[in-house]
Amino acid sequence: MCGIVAYVGGAAAAPVLVEGLRRLEYRGYDSAGIATLTGRTLNIRKTIGYISSLQSLLVQHPIAGTIGISHTRWATHGAVTIQNAHPHSDHSGRLALVHNGVIENYHELRGDLIEKGETFYSSTDTEVMAHLIGYFFGKNGKQGKIGLMEAIRQALGQVVGTYGIAVIHADVPGVLMGARHGSSLVLGVGNGEYLLASDTSAIVPYTHEAIYLNDRDIVCLGEGGFEVNTLTGLGSDYRITKIDFTIEDISKAEYPHYMLKEIFEQPASVSNAIRGRLSLEEATAKLGGLEASNIELRAVEHLILSGCGTAFHAGLVGKYLIESLAHIPAECEFASELRYRSLLATPSTTFVFVISQSGETADTLAALRESRRKGYRTLGICNYVASTVARESDGGVYMHAGVEIGVAATKSFTSQLTILTLISLLFGRIRRLSHTDGLRIIAELEKLPEKISQTLELHEQVRRIACKYAHAKSFLFLGRQFNYPIALEGALKLTETSYIAASGHPSAELKHGIIALVAPEIPSVFIAPEDSVLEKNLNNIQEVKARNGPVIAIGTEGNKSLARIADDVLFIPEAPEYISPILAVIPLQLLAYYIAVELGHDVDKPRNLAKSVTVE
Ligand code: M6R
Repeated sequence: MCGIVAYVGGAAAAPVLVEGLRRLEYRGYDSAGIATLTGRTLNIRKTIGYISSLQSLLVQHPIAGTIGISHTRWATHGAVTIQNAHPHSDHSGRLALVHNGVIENYHELRGDLIEKGETFYSSTDTEVMAHLIGYFFGKNGKQGKIGLMEAIRQALGQVVGTYGIAVIHADVPGVLMGARHGSSLVLGVGNGEYLLASDTSAIVPYTHEAIYLNDRDIVCLGEGGFEVNTLTGLGSDYRITKIDFTIEDISKAEYPHYMLKEIFEQPASVSNAIRGRLSLEEATAKLGGLEASNIELRAVEHLILSGCGTAFHAGLVGKYLIESLAHIPAECEFASELRYRSLLATPSTTFVFVISQSGETADTLAALRESRRKGYRTLGICNYVASTVARESDGGVYMHAGVEIGVAATKSFTSQLTILTLISLLFGRIRRLSHTDGLRIIAELEKLPEKISQTLELHEQVRRIACKYAHAKSFLFLGRQFNYPIALEGALKLTETSYIAASGHPSAELKHGIIALVAPEIPSVFIAPEDSVLEKNLNNIQEVKARNGPVIAIGTEGNKSLARIADDVLFIPEAPEYISPILAVIPLQLLAYYIAVELGHDVDKPRNLAKSVTVE
């Protein structure tokens, strides 16, 4: 993904930009750069590594100016080098541009520009845009704001791909421009100052008034205020929105890492997912955001769930929830696969739910757009209000989980599971689910925040287990039915934070091949709560123990057989099978966290990752 922050106003730009980049660092942290204008002089500083390296560089080589752009990179085209870091410039060296997204036709554009005499210094797709804008700015012979805006329009007219950009030019002092297509860009409207950023966390210290730019919007900021237009020259249909979180919400508070803070926020985030959405009288869930009447909901014969990574795992639990509570056939597919599949389900009787914390994941968006193109009703389950998923779907349900900054998704996952339970309840109640069963599910949902708090009390025990196994070569995660996706999620959490190879499997698949891995140095983590498949799981645990494999088990409080056969047991509160994944995943999140800490890894900024993946 990458993060963009740009500023124009009365304050020194560099400190505002660096502070903003620090807040967006979770979006990418390979390299960073900043450009400011002091009068008609362009100043650029770039570095590889974290924002802290850029800060040190600016201490040695400070730059002044009250207007500037900046970027933190997650490499797509070109290695992690200073040349490839943003901002990029054109042949004149007077224009600076930062970019988030991918230019698909950069190869041909670059070839054309080289023929026209341009010289390239990086191997990025971004530099093509800087040269192209610079080329049109020079060629048109028009100066000032109008000239720059026209050059940006012409250049973007030739570009195929996705972009969020911010541009300054030394010949147009005091003016900052931005544009977006397929890559988020939000404008912060302050008191005599403006910020442009890839997300609101960078803006919130300065203003709570935001405009989420639409695709193909172009924005011009400066002393004269702000103008938002479309790239085709029409006035854009924008709205000023109030940002609904504070700077405290995006701080680490007393926690050493965002990941740990977010794990501990789950009683509150799950409560927020439920709040105001239960009707005791009708024993059902109220989800007005779905924008569908009961008649339309009753006509649904098939549900497709889709997402990437952790969101995909949530969808997989959703499939079990929907089939068992709502009695509707459901399937879950990776968004990256769904987007290229020939969907055979009947559009008029099928709903497609896309699940995405950020609402900006490229593959998820593509799956959403492909489903819409084929006439399916598409619904989003996402956390970011005004995200692209939220704006492009026919309706949906917000998670209200609060900002999630840790790259490893934690609280968003349990919120997604909670919402999928609400959706299953809603669909179930207009089908076969009785009033009594509906009330039973509601009662369980209401008890959930308290049970999550109890589960979090395991943290010290999990920390000890983490220290015991932190140096294991690899891990197996095993579970069945509702908890098979939790095995996948446990493995993903551990792999992405600790760089330990871990894989998740249905427990019964062990004997079909995976058992070959079982050995004293490879722990198996079994998710085996009290449910319809507990006995089967116990048998599988015996098979591992018989081959000297260490077993860590997640079980239901008071289960003696598990305590007898497993090496280490973590007991979660008793809960029905459909609720158990929400509780079972918590010790696995903690296990991944404590192992990563024990191994000395930067938990919030895992190697090679970024918070949301806005490229295919
Ligand atoms: O923002 P999204 O929910 O669409 O993100 C999807 C995945 O990229 C994300 O869940 C990823 O797998 C996380 N790093 C997992 O912890």
